[in-house]
Amino acid sequence: MEQEIDLDKIDLNAEPPIEEPDRQYYYMAKCREWVREFEQINGRVPTCCVTTFGCQMNARDSEKLTGILRRVGYEVTEDERADFVIFNTCTVRDNANQRVYGRLGELKNHKKRNPAMKIALCGCMMQEPSVIEKLCSSYRFVDLVFGTHNIFKLAELLWRCFQGQGMVVDIWEDTDQIVEDLPVERKYPFKSGVNIMFGCNNFCSYCIVPYVRGRERSREPGDILEEIRRLVSEGVVEVMLLGQNVNSYGRNLAEPITFAQLLREVEKIEGLRRIRFMTSHPKDLSDELIRVMKESEKICRHLHLPLQSGSTRILERMNRRYTKEQYLALAEKIRREIPDIAITTDIIVGFPGETPEDVEDTLDVIRRVKYDNAFTFVYSRRTGTPAAAMADQVPEDRVREGFDRVLKLVQDTARERVAGYQGREAEVLVEEVNIHDGGLLTGRMSNNTLVHFPGEPELVGRMVRVSLDQCQGFYYMGHMKTETQSPDKAGGIL
Ligand code: 5AD
Ligand code: SF4
Repeated sequence: MEQEIDLDKIDLNAEPPIEEPDRQYYYMAKCREWVREFEQINGRVPTCCVTTFGCQMNARDSEKLTGILRRVGYEVTEDERADFVIFNTCTVRDNANQRVYGRLGELKNHKKRNPAMKIALCGCMMQEPSVIEKLCSSYRFVDLVFGTHNIFKLAELLWRCFQGQGMVVDIWEDTDQIVEDLPVERKYPFKSGVNIMFGCNNFCSYCIVPYVRGRERSREPGDILEEIRRLVSEGVVEVMLLGQNVNSYGRNLAEPITFAQLLREVEKIEGLRRIRFMTSHPKDLSDELIRVMKESEKICRHLHLPLQSGSTRILERMNRRYTKEQYLALAEKIRREIPDIAITTDIIVGFPGETPEDVEDTLDVIRRVKYDNAFTFVYSRRTGTPAAAMADQVPEDRVREGFDRVLKLVQDTARERVAGYQGREAEVLVEEVNIHDGGLLTGRMSNNTLVHFPGEPELVGRMVRVSLDQCQGFYYMGHMKTETQSPDKAGGIL
């Protein structure tokens, strides 16, 4: 949460404070002086553009970056010809890295036309030493590079960038620090992500996240609840609690607390209508959590439960710490307890040593769980992970074949699941005016399915009841019944 600090009252002749976040407010004030000077010389405010690659965590980090830049005085734009452009990068699969290098080429051209332009890179990809080497040798036009652990330092790094000559590089290997109370600029006024923890301790053998995001650290429940209360007072009705493995939230706090207990506290916040969370690791999903979800008026009927593979043999090599049978039993229990719930998943095809029989196991789980949606990925070899060193990497053509079969089946089962809601009524949060048809609104159901229906733009950010008239594959066309004032789960409403 942003502190009510008046930047003009900060003494810029004093030494920078040692404590955070005071130190960053000091540098924000210094950068603002620079921005004012820019304005006087150029007759306009400088512009900035924050481009996000990757997951919801990164999206939230970008809101923090944008918050700091806005506070410094930049005008925020989506145009990458801005005076300050920052790419918040992802490295979970190699194609994410390749996209960043491609887009950097475009930025180089913009900089040729505007030599005063500053280019910054941050996020997961920057935590890889090979990336830093490549940037330092072949991408000298980049001005500022930092990682995942020090994004709170943007103002200080920006100041260094304004001062010096050449590339500023500041990468931390790990941290146990969580800096609270810095500015954040939300993309949507009515919904927001909320970090509840950072990092991951699971070390799935294919995954680079524990190396680039560091060890698991939970925020204090009091800080989380206070942030949500503040968001609600600003008009937020839906929060998404974010963590790489929310089910292990709170274990390492001085006063341990479970994720389910945290949810019970969040539920009590008056004015908050919906609670989502992401991501759950199947090995840590407790009966207590299922009970809390079942009893809740506000927790959305959606669970993202990454499967990765349906083969027990591959799961073991992936270090996922559950078997096919355990996963199936868990999914069945969840469906039994919370019948309307949508279960979605992530699946990797082509993990080292995967045979066509292993893919059959994955297909079997998809058939039985009947996912509402699934993200299917081709295995990507990430340097430094145990799986990258495994001898039996699968040839590309065989991966393709398995991938196509998995994709087709998840699409077929998802279509079938989504079609099952036809004719029912759902409570939706109206998220935007439809981009293709200005007469239509787009709303999101509790189970994450989208519905398009005729309505006035003033309803954006509100909860309305919609009847689901026509299923169009993965979304619905509908019409509005009424606006709803309070959580409503009665009488077959989805
Ligand atoms: N290759 C392919 N997919 C991966 N994921 C994570 N690491 C890799 C990798 N090396 C997928 C997992 C995870 C999602 C966020 O990204 O399915 O759940
Ligand atoms: Fe990666 Fe596994 Fe951690 Fe998810 S739980 S971020 S897949 S290591």
